[in-house]
Amino acid sequence: MSYTDLASKVIVVTGAAQGIGLAYARRLVDEGATVVLADRATDSVEKAAAALNENGNQGKAIAHAIDVASANSCAELAESLTKEFGRVDGLVNNAAIFSTITMKPFWEISTDEWDRLMEVNLKGPWLLTTALLPLLRASAGASIINIGSDAVAMGRQGYLHYVASKGGVAGMTFSMSHELGEFGIRVNTLSPGPVYTEVSRDTVSAPQKEAMMARQALHRTAGPDDMTSLAAFLLSDESSYITGQTISVNGGLVHR
Ligand SMILES: NC(=O)c1ccc[n+]([C@@H]2O[C@H](COP(=O)([O-])OP(=O)(O)OC[C@H]3O[C@@H](n4cnc5c(N)ncnc54)[C@H](O)[C@@H]3O)[C@@H](O)[C@H]2O)c1
Repeated sequence: MSYTDLASKVIVVTGAAQGIGLAYARRLVDEGATVVLADRATDSVEKAAAALNENGNQGKAIAHAIDVASANSCAELAESLTKEFGRVDGLVNNAAIFSTITMKPFWEISTDEWDRLMEVNLKGPWLLTTALLPLLRASAGASIINIGSDAVAMGRQGYLHYVASKGGVAGMTFSMSHELGEFGIRVNTLSPGPVYTEVSRDTVSAPQKEAMMARQALHRTAGPDDMTSLAAFLLSDESSYITGQTISVNGGLVHR
């Protein structure tokens, strides 16, 4: 399904150099949107944007370096977008410390690891949303997607700082939606179950992968493209009455 109104939108996707963030960006460019791929992995994000533009897609991809945990870096992106577009219609707060996590019991997580992960995963979406707020308010009806995780609903072990950060994201979404409703800005959490991307990671062992798939209603694993339809819908005007929600995409693994 195609959401034709996306073609007129300027949408920022953070953490878009790889993985699911790149898939969101690809889908939105395919829909004709102007997509700002923002990531701290500068080289990869530039290559990713160039590849999207080369593929003859309808929209446009623009790379931008950012550290979402830095207020100054978020302000730089806002300044550049103010000059170039004067508005932002969509924001996907997807950047997170995730695939680089080493699983361990929570009592072995160092305070430095905890703090850095929280700065990126929880403070980052707040910082960037705040920096882009004047631009989001300048849109006719902006939509924000905060990326959560169904690891929260599953009580997953081995990365408590990550689970806590994503629980915070869902709570932040609901309150943000109430503070931003008066400006016509919607805010939702897209909460993926386990998604297997091109990036290898240690956060799911082979037996855990099998066990989770067996528990699902749909007995297949998810790839990044399984997440993109909901993102496109939530960013389009077709979802104009949906806000404050946490929506899972997990093949029936858990129920919220
Ligand atoms: N893959 C899964 O199974 C899964 C499941 C549930 C939720 N999620 C969430 O989906 C999102 C994407 O997951 P993924 O598997 O593609 O993750 P990933 O680790 O492969 O990619 C994360 C991206 O964020 C970028 N990033 C990290 N720190 C940053 C910072 N400070 N500033 C800007 N960019 C930064 C990285 O460079 C990378 O491009 C994350 O929010 C993750 O928590 C993933």
